[in-house]
Order: sequence, then C-alpha cells, then structure tokens
Amino acid sequence: MKTPLTKKVRDFSVETLRGGLRGERVVLRIDTNTTLGEDGRVTEGESWRILKMIPTIQFLQEQGARTIILAHQGRDPKETLKPIYEFLSQRIPLAFAQWSELDEVMKTLKDGESVLFENVRSFQEEKKDDPSYLSSLIDWADLYINEAFSVSHREHASVHAIARLLPSYFGFQFVREVEELSRFLVPREEGERVVILGGAKFGTKLPLIEKILEHKLADAILLGGALANVFLKEKGVNIGSSYYDDTVDVTHIMNDPRIVLPIDFRGRDGSVGMIESVGDDAILDVGPKTEELFSRYIHRSREALWNGPMGKYEDGYVQASIALAKNIVESDTYAVSGGGDTSTVILEQGLEDAFQFISTAGGAMLDFLVEGTLPGIEAVLRR
Ligand code: 3PG
Repeated sequence: MKTPLTKKVRDFSVETLRGGLRGERVVLRIDTNTTLGEDGRVTEGESWRILKMIPTIQFLQEQGARTIILAHQGRDPKETLKPIYEFLSQRIPLAFAQWSELDEVMKTLKDGESVLFENVRSFQEEKKDDPSYLSSLIDWADLYINEAFSVSHREHASVHAIARLLPSYFGFQFVREVEELSRFLVPREEGERVVILGGAKFGTKLPLIEKILEHKLADAILLGGALANVFLKEKGVNIGSSYYDDTVDVTHIMNDPRIVLPIDFRGRDGSVGMIESVGDDAILDVGPKTEELFSRYIHRSREALWNGPMGKYEDGYVQASIALAKNIVESDTYAVSGGGDTSTVILEQGLEDAFQFISTAGGAMLDFLVEGTLPGIEAVLRR
C-alpha cells in the first residue's frame, strides 16, 4: 500500500532529530515574507506568520545546533530582511549577517547559536533553482530543514535544489500544514464538508474546483469574490461593471449542483440588491441573503475549508467575510483557512481561536490541494 504523504512527512520531521543535534551544522529555510507597515516595520496583523517560525528555531537552539537561517523578502532583490531580524531578535536570541560574512560565520558559529542571512532573492540564482551561490554553505552543512511551506510551491534554490544535496527534514509548522491540509484531499466518510472560495485569482482556484468536483472532496463549494462573477456571467446574469476574468471557461462545471453562487450583492454607495438586479452597479461583496445561505451550509457541515475573501477586500468590502468568519465561529465545524486576506480578516476580528488551523500559505496551500504535494516536499522526500 502507498504510504500517505502525512506519514512520510512526519517521518522526516525535525522532531526525529531530538537528542542528536548538538554541534550539528544546520541550514534552516523559513518563510517570513511580509508586507511591512509604512514605518518599514513588521505590522501587528502580519506578525503571526513570522511567529510560527519560532518553535523550530528555538528547538534547534535548545538542542545545541549551529543554525544558519535563510529567508526571502518581497520580489525585489534589493529588499532587506533587517525588519524581520529586528522583529525576531526581540523574541529569540538571533544574529544577522550579510552574505560577505558567510565564511566568518561558518567558522565562528557556536553550539545553540543562530544567524539569519540577508534575503536569498538578492541572488538571481535563487529563483533559477541554481544552488551554486549556496555551495560553500552546503559544503559546511550537515543538515537542511525546510520550515517554509508557504514558498515550497516554488522551485527555488533554497527550498528545492538544496534539499536534494543535503540530508533534509521538515520543521514543526511544515508538518502541521501537511497534516491539516491533507484531510481535504480525501472524501469525507461521514458528515458534510464545505469548501468556501473567494478572491480574484482564478489560476489555481479553477483546477481546485475541478478536482473537488471530480474526486467528491466536498458536498458544496460556496463561491464569492470575483471568482463567483465568472460563473454568474456564464449563466447569463448581468454583472454590470463587476470585475471578472474573461480568459477562463467554466461552462463544463457551471451547472454542477454542488456549486453555490451568491443570490444577492452589495454594490457601490451602500447599495444592496438581488443578483438579477445589478444593472450598471458592480458586485463588490456578497449580500446578506447570501450570508444566510452560506451560513446554513456551514452550520450543517462537519468540516470547512476557506480560502479567499467574499468581497473586494482591498477597498474595504469585508462585511460578508466577517459574517462568514463569525458563522464559522458559531458552528461546530472543523475549520481550516488560508490565504493572506482571509487570515487577515480572521485575525483582525480576533476569531482565530475558532479555527482549528490557519495556514501560513496562500498560493502554496492551493497548489498543495490541487497537486497533493509541492516541489519543496518532493525534494526532501526524494533524497
Ligand atoms: C508568500 O508570501 O506567499 C510566499 O513567501 C511566496 O512569495 P512569492 O509569491 O513572492 O514567491
């Protein structure tokens, strides 16, 4: 029988190294990528993902490993990890180094010490999955640990190529991500499961919807955001000036009874109406009747997975997403969520305790659900 991925990942958890790490030279990849505040510092709302990296760093310190930590910040090679270092070093003992200091750090690092190095994306080789810029680090290291689930959908040198060159393991948060998201990769045996998808990025959400329908992974898929507009338009509903993606074709799935679309909307200047009455207005959030409809599905489900806001979040249309989060809180459903904007809604409302798990990932979560694995996972398991 095929070993389930969760078991394989657990077998490579950093936990399996307990007691054997003193003096070991470890390369740890974390993901602390974040949108900084106007003052250039880590914001309260974004800090939770960074905090999730701490248990693995602390474990390595307590176990006496010598750890060099790799991470990226943004997409511009000039971006710095200094604000992340400032945030982390207020919570754990940590040093910061430039790549020009690598030889010195490798020579002087002591048992239990950790050093965060500057943005790996400052090297163009990183995105090309070319580990040559890491060669002296790889020669120095005994082990590699991937604690960067949320960037493990990228075939980048510090999450992919490096794992094939060193004995490799997964961090604590990484293992949890795989465990919690994997429950949605198999059909539920009893009780209903609902998947709620919103937002605007259709690229990975359409394959996910197709997979859920084909493999019977949910009893209902509740759609909001610009994602729903594509279905509404295809069904002949006048969506006015609402945003939608005209490059995707949903004709093959649009009549599936498991797909549940908004029945009303919130538009410009506080307007609210039934979905047939959009006219030249725009759907900026789902309406109160849709909230009620979605709520009924949530309350009768045993498991819920949510990715993507219900409205144009960036312009403040957040009402239905808040209502959705509160409905989840009031229900007994086992709730898992992910995606940056979704998590922000939940955390800003202080509703995180009602979710059994909030993924640190956005794109990587969707890719994992579609593919059942990620390049960063396969690289660790393949060696
Ligand atoms: C994230 O923040 O979702 C990850 O770090 C991935 O970032 P990227 O989309 O810039 O690769």
